[in-house]
Amino acid sequence: MDQSDGKAEKPFAANAQGKPKFYLTTPIYYANSRPHVGSAYTTIVCDVIARYKRMCGYDVAFVTGTDEHGVNIERAAEAKGITPQQLVDQNEKIFRELWKLLGITNRIDDAGEGFVRTTSPEHERAVQTLVRRTMRRSPNAIFKRKYEGRYCIYDNAYVSDTPEPINCPTCGRPAELISEENYFFRLSAYKDRLLDLYKANPQFVQPDFRMNEVRSFVERDLRDISISRKSIKWGIPWPGDPEHVFYVWYDALTSYMTAIGYGEGDDGEANPQFRKYWTADDAYVMHMIGKEIIRFHAVYWPAFLMAAELPLPKQIFAHGWLLFEQEKMSKSKGNVAYPEPIVKAFDELTGAKVGNDALRYYLLRETVFGQDGNFSREALITRYNADLANGLGNLASRIVAMIQRYCGGDIPNQDDQAIKSDEDVRADAKLNQALGTAVSLTSALYGDMKPDLALVQVWNIVASTDEYLTKTAPWVLAEDATRRVRLEGVLWRAADALRCVTVLAHPVIPDATEKIWRRLGGQGRLSEERINRLMGGTTVQGTRIGKADAVFPRVDKQQLSGRIEAMEQEIRNPAVKAAAASHESQATSPESPTATTPAAVPASTKIGIEDFAKVELRVGVVKSAERIQGADKLLKLLVDIGDEVRQVLAGIALAYAPEDLIGRKVVIVANLAPRKMRGLESNGMLLAASVGPDGKPVLCTFAEDVPPGAKVK
Ligand code: MSP
Repeated sequence: MDQSDGKAEKPFAANAQGKPKFYLTTPIYYANSRPHVGSAYTTIVCDVIARYKRMCGYDVAFVTGTDEHGVNIERAAEAKGITPQQLVDQNEKIFRELWKLLGITNRIDDAGEGFVRTTSPEHERAVQTLVRRTMRRSPNAIFKRKYEGRYCIYDNAYVSDTPEPINCPTCGRPAELISEENYFFRLSAYKDRLLDLYKANPQFVQPDFRMNEVRSFVERDLRDISISRKSIKWGIPWPGDPEHVFYVWYDALTSYMTAIGYGEGDDGEANPQFRKYWTADDAYVMHMIGKEIIRFHAVYWPAFLMAAELPLPKQIFAHGWLLFEQEKMSKSKGNVAYPEPIVKAFDELTGAKVGNDALRYYLLRETVFGQDGNFSREALITRYNADLANGLGNLASRIVAMIQRYCGGDIPNQDDQAIKSDEDVRADAKLNQALGTAVSLTSALYGDMKPDLALVQVWNIVASTDEYLTKTAPWVLAEDATRRVRLEGVLWRAADALRCVTVLAHPVIPDATEKIWRRLGGQGRLSEERINRLMGGTTVQGTRIGKADAVFPRVDKQQLSGRIEAMEQEIRNPAVKAAAASHESQATSPESPTATTPAAVPASTKIGIEDFAKVELRVGVVKSAERIQGADKLLKLLVDIGDEVRQVLAGIALAYAPEDLIGRKVVIVANLAPRKMRGLESNGMLLAASVGPDGKPVLCTFAEDVPPGAKVK
């Protein structure tokens, strides 16, 4: 993260105006559905970096936002029977609330919230200004021509520049045929300049191995790209040619500049905030992204900016994916975990505000940053109990309790030099050494974008301090009045180590560290402590400390896991809470407090329309079908229901061959609680007639053409 060589955080040269600048962005998230733990991962990582940079004395602009245009938003809204604007308004709120819950500090220091929406009027103006500026400054960069190719609406990416059918290499779904007159960007003309950029700035793309990927893409095959659409309505109109709207990626990438004020004045640069964070000589712009969108950021975006004659970002950092059972977590695969249930269930069951720290710590600690990582609820709870409850939490309570008990609640005196035995000297030296090493390495590791290793260092201090207390045994010293001075020295050293831990772990676990800091009598705001200038040995004696109650109460794994599961069900299927749940939902989670037990309805009893309305029936299109090993009757289907693709297991293998089902329209019960069969999750049920004595299934379908996602009622 260091601005010169990506290595350790170095003392910076503050410019005349004071602090050095750092502008950090998350990708802007598609607002067609709610965020999952994968999207939260990127935002949390950025928050850790932003907090760290502030603690190093930077003036930070940290921005996130929502990507609200494009055909997938249009479709998702259509399927819900609402307008695209209504849909993005609903989802944008969910994003904002989640970032609040996770303690995300997306703000432009001294200027307010850092959140950008692509449907805002400021953004529309920014995109139109950018393209006008580009046409003025590089008249050959943009031109019109006919386009025929295949485009994946789910990944918003061109898959092929020829019209032959093809599946998207990223998501595997059939790409759509596009044939229309478009505005194009002459990307091919930027090949040499891009290669020069990579050569002159080897840190432009990080980690290093991703740079190789990018370079070989540019060397191999750099084609001109279409940057407008005629077939889509939901987008920003092209200036002077409103039949066209902007291609979502041109629109979305520009949001990084809108967020800090681009778009004012003819050239877009009138806002001083934009000049401060983007065009000033000492501006440092970093885009954090997931690895799947690197081409847009490391190839298209710098070329767009070159053509507009604007400065380029300094670094694109592509992190890995969070996997769920070895697959990328994504709503379309039905393998998502949501952050809200995790945070809320932890808070609810412990009666303390620990959920946010628990999730943040787990995500940062468990994954080697930059590589793919795995998400598992079980591992999350295990980490919490081991590292937070038994580790840091226990250490903090012990130290505070002993200072309360033996020193009347004031941080004691460190001066025990005169009375130390050889053994005491050895124990102190060992702790000092561990503390010194960890303090000097941790900040450098954060600076070098290795937050997982930074946490290993911090927890080395926790372990060394625990060991120190076991060895020096203050409770034994307290029995002997002649050892009073030593007792105080020991507790002072332990408190000093704990103070260092709170500063060093603050970017990752802001809530708990703040709490411990206050208990240690910390003055001012912990977030304003200078992490890169931290020194052991500076704890002030005589400071009054707070109470010793548990910072991270232990949790029962099974109980917590059950509670998270139940809360997740509510998100996946809001009807579960209110509706008379189906037999499946009860079978899935009989203990779930949210799955209400239905009053049994005798077969002949009539139901009211309001009962029927609880069942959400939707048109689906079968995208893939395969047999499941060891289950003769079951097929595993991926069914497109408009705003998402669901995995559904259906007991129709004896009646249908998988290949005959591809492309078939079906009716799916979309709000059925998920159910696990043969270790696979089924998210919905297909409607079928049950025919003959064997109950042979015959799938319900349509004679007319109907779009996927349409409601059946
Ligand atoms: N809207 C575009 C980005 C435009 S930026 C100018 C987009 N949106 S997205 O919502 O699909 O994904 C945004 C980001 O979410 C990804 O780049 C990635 O950083 C993050 N993740 C989504 N799923 C993820 C995982 N399963 N694991 C880790 N990160 C994930 O692409």
